[in-house]
Amino acid sequence: MKKLTQVEFKERRDRLAELMGPHSIAIIATSPVAMRNRDADYKYRTDSSFFYLTGFAEPEAVAVIETYESIDEGYTYSLFCRERNREMEIWNGYRAGIDGAIEQYEADEAYAIDLLDEEILEKLLDKNQLFYRIGQNAEFDARVAKWIAAANGESRRGTSAPAQVVQLDRLVDEMRLHKDANELELMQIAADISAEAHTRAMQTVKPGMMEYALEAELNYVFGRNGCVPSYNSIVGGGENACILHYVENDKELKDGDLVLIDAACEYQFYASDITRTFPVNGKFSPEQKALYNLVLDAQLAAINAVQIGNSYKEPHYVAVRILVQGLLDLGIMQGDLDEIIASESYRQFYMHGTGHWLGMDVHDVGTYKVDGEWRAYEAGMVVTVEPGLYIAPDDETVDPKWRGIGIRIEDDIVATKNGPLNLTAKVVKTVDEIEALMAATK
Ligand code: GLY
Ligand code: MN
Ligand code: MN
Repeated sequence: MKKLTQVEFKERRDRLAELMGPHSIAIIATSPVAMRNRDADYKYRTDSSFFYLTGFAEPEAVAVIETYESIDEGYTYSLFCRERNREMEIWNGYRAGIDGAIEQYEADEAYAIDLLDEEILEKLLDKNQLFYRIGQNAEFDARVAKWIAAANGESRRGTSAPAQVVQLDRLVDEMRLHKDANELELMQIAADISAEAHTRAMQTVKPGMMEYALEAELNYVFGRNGCVPSYNSIVGGGENACILHYVENDKELKDGDLVLIDAACEYQFYASDITRTFPVNGKFSPEQKALYNLVLDAQLAAINAVQIGNSYKEPHYVAVRILVQGLLDLGIMQGDLDEIIASESYRQFYMHGTGHWLGMDVHDVGTYKVDGEWRAYEAGMVVTVEPGLYIAPDDETVDPKWRGIGIRIEDDIVATKNGPLNLTAKVVKTVDEIEALMAATK
């Protein structure tokens, strides 16, 4: 099983410490446990940036990185975590504890999480800058504010609190945006498992099946590979595909309809994100096929626009131009291509963007603009390419034969010096390939 090692996590901390500069401190908290209902909580998922820097996936943990007068003096990495506790471990599972934090997770110092308020004060004193992600967790923000106030209150000792509080995300997000070979390997594994899940869905769907039953086929593949979905799965039959974030998945799949599945898993905290749309009965109708091929043309051209140096927006511009021309050719829209694009009236049928950064989070971190300009693709950035067309079931401006058809095709693309690399190419997407796969298993 491919996993990152402490070597990689340490390299990331080394880089962060260097970016922070001297006399600085970073406080990085993991996510709180989220309650589901009454005393049942959601299965815990660590905060992505916290895991990125520590490899530590337990709840109730805070990492602290301190730099000194000169960066040549190195830095101290402290991990605050839950202590080992036989009783609690019998009920709730294994904990690394203080010794584990040092031995397995290579912390220089480790403390019980209950000592955080006490220990952090000394660490804050005489640092120039505090790097912290403000605005994610109001409760933790309030604690940080108290620590700063307490550090200010120590001034008669001749010490001072950090003069600046800087958004930690500015540094960590930029690191996370560029994926190295190890990260891409994990993303490829996530993509392969998700591709297998989509293939299984195409092989098992049949008219009369419930959307949730088809979702279960996906979950079977994710679970069998030790993975969980990286976001709530969308399984929308017929006109449900026109609801962009449809997650009820509780209707029957009908003969003659398409089904849109936007579902994928994460592997070792790295996400994939795939959408495929295919006929419930295995055969596209002429209208479905016409719209499907239009979206596919747009998607293939947009993928090809993920080239180093191109603007992040280029795939979107390419996709929109093809989609609008196709809608004009099919008689679904009327008017002038450039005017429709300039006025964005195509949003009646294509109302979302063409992609987003992908990484540990499905909508991954990283700015989209730099100095007010859309940023350019650089090697190791991963973006989704996911154009679609959605003809609302009650849209009286179009011929009834098109109404209620919703299509999206989504793949995960890495910008490389050799051009776009499609991590999710293993799941078929041409009309012929889909129909052949489905015919072979009916
Ligand atoms: N699955 C979420 C998205 O495609 O953005
Ligand atoms: Mn997506
Ligand atoms: Mn998606």
